[in-house]
Amino acid sequence: MNFKKSVIFILLVGIGAIYFMSNLIVDDRVEALLRQKYINSSETMKNSAKLHTAEKMDATLALAIAISHKEELIKALRENNYKLVDLKSISDMIKKHTKFKTPWFHLVSKDGVSILKSWMERKGEYILGFRRDLAKLMKEPKVTTTISVGKFNMTFKAIVPVYDGQKFIGLFEVITNFDSVAESLKNKNIDFVVLADKRYKKQLTKPYSKLFIEDYYVANSNANKEFLKLVEKIGVDNFIKNKEDYFIHKDEKHLLTNYNLLDIDGNTIGYFLLFKSLESIDTTDISNKKNLLFFILLAIFIVFFGILYYFYNRAYSNKILQLNSELEERVKKEVEENRLKDGLVLQQSKLASMGEMIGAIAHQWRQPLNALSISIQNLEYAYEDNLVDKEYLDKYTSKNLKTINFMSNTIDDFRNFFRVDKEKEGFSVKEAILGTISLQEAQLKNNGISLEVMGDDFIVNGFYNEFQQVILNIISNSKDVLLDNNIKEPEIKIILEDNKILIKDNGPGINKDIINKVFEPYFTTKDKDKGTGMGLYMSKMIIEDNMGGKLLVSNIQKSDLNDCYGVMFTIEMPTKEQREEDEKL
Ligand SMILES: Nc1ncnc2c1ncn2[C@@H]1O[C@H](COP(=O)(O)OP(=O)(O)OP(=O)(O)O)[C@@H](O)[C@H]1O
Ligand SMILES: [Mg+2]
Repeated sequence: MNFKKSVIFILLVGIGAIYFMSNLIVDDRVEALLRQKYINSSETMKNSAKLHTAEKMDATLALAIAISHKEELIKALRENNYKLVDLKSISDMIKKHTKFKTPWFHLVSKDGVSILKSWMERKGEYILGFRRDLAKLMKEPKVTTTISVGKFNMTFKAIVPVYDGQKFIGLFEVITNFDSVAESLKNKNIDFVVLADKRYKKQLTKPYSKLFIEDYYVANSNANKEFLKLVEKIGVDNFIKNKEDYFIHKDEKHLLTNYNLLDIDGNTIGYFLLFKSLESIDTTDISNKKNLLFFILLAIFIVFFGILYYFYNRAYSNKILQLNSELEERVKKEVEENRLKDGLVLQQSKLASMGEMIGAIAHQWRQPLNALSISIQNLEYAYEDNLVDKEYLDKYTSKNLKTINFMSNTIDDFRNFFRVDKEKEGFSVKEAILGTISLQEAQLKNNGISLEVMGDDFIVNGFYNEFQQVILNIISNSKDVLLDNNIKEPEIKIILEDNKILIKDNGPGINKDIINKVFEPYFTTKDKDKGTGMGLYMSKMIIEDNMGGKLLVSNIQKSDLNDCYGVMFTIEMPTKEQREEDEKL
């Protein structure tokens, strides 16, 4: 895996981990947040229910106070005559000025007799026996609101003492039910079921709503049937015994909560069961928080990753820089070592060429040395024959000086040959080749090897002496091969054509198994004392590396038979023009 791929991989894994982590953290948090949200919702539900209940009570009380001051009520109580009350006009007035539809009124004389009930005809009944709240108020008359259960219903009751001047003469009671509270709450997406405690079941002989769940009377006649069923399913006891702030039913659709209703003595009289659909609870802030957390974590991760990446990259590039500089250092060292080695090799090959040269000098000098020795002998004979005179000596001296001069020139030629060229120069190929040959001429001739130079001269650019060394190496190799193989009419041909130098011999050629190796350093087929195997290696280096040319070898094949017929070395040298072109570039 390369660096880029690893970075992407880490990034993706990181984001995945962040997502997973944030979900893990958030889910935990979300649960707490959701729980808090539901607690708040259930509080709000309860508060709304309590508020609306209180409002209803206050309204009922206000109505009771207002009506209790009516003269006809006081009169009816004073005279114990319910007919004095015009029920219809009161009802009409209430319907006109308040939200109440048909509140019930109840007028009770101070001795506990119900003298007027707006909801039924029966009058004159003694009621303090089962209306303990009224009995209590008869003793201590005061304005009271309460929730109580009677024969018909569980209702709100606002009870107001009625006075005739200073004299307490009875109680006036207005009774309202829970239905309107249910309606108000419905507007707030809250549904409820109000239940009267089961101990009132017997007492509710004429239940107004006619609805019961188990033994519990349903006080709001407009209770939602769906919730009634739900309460039935949960079981009222399970519901009302719930001490949690809220609970969510298995159907996962509703938030449920409850609280107890108290009577005038502070005892539980009934139960408010509240429902709210979960859908209506806005939880977008929680999911927003979830997203926010994810993005915060992601941002932290990206920043962290970025920093890590930056430092890693820096360390990485530092490392690369360091490696690079180490490599550079090593390359430098190697190059330096190679240079030294090449220098040594060059030196070695030069020494080898020197060996060749000494052989050549020996051959070159053999003839003039012979001539000198004969000349010396001749002087002796001439002297004996009295032929030595001034003229003879002059002729003798000049002839021998010529020979000695020739020998001296030969040495100069060899010295020049070993001179190190400092700069490239344009030179005549033919001249350089002939110069080299002249050093070997005698040697070749003595060994019966014919050498021919053909073709048109051309100018190349390079190191003159090094070029000559290459020619010398190639000719020496041919000479060795031709002699070692006792070739009948040994010949070497140097052909100049198409700016190439072809050097051919009619030796046995090079075995194809080793032809690719002849340019390798130290590759030789000769005895140790005869060859180092550096000749062609150095030649290739000189032509190709030093002078930008090419040195190739091939066997010359007979036209149709696959038989070798000597070797051909090809030298391609950059011409002066090419060189100039290259330098321009
Ligand atoms: N003209 C040729 N014909 C056949 N084989 C040749 C010819 N020239 C070179 N070779 C082969 O290539 C080998 C390598 O030649 P090279 O000049 O590099 O080394 P060498 O002549 O063996 O030793 P030296 O370093 O003394 O020149 C020779 O040993 C020889 O086998
Ligand atoms: Mg050689």
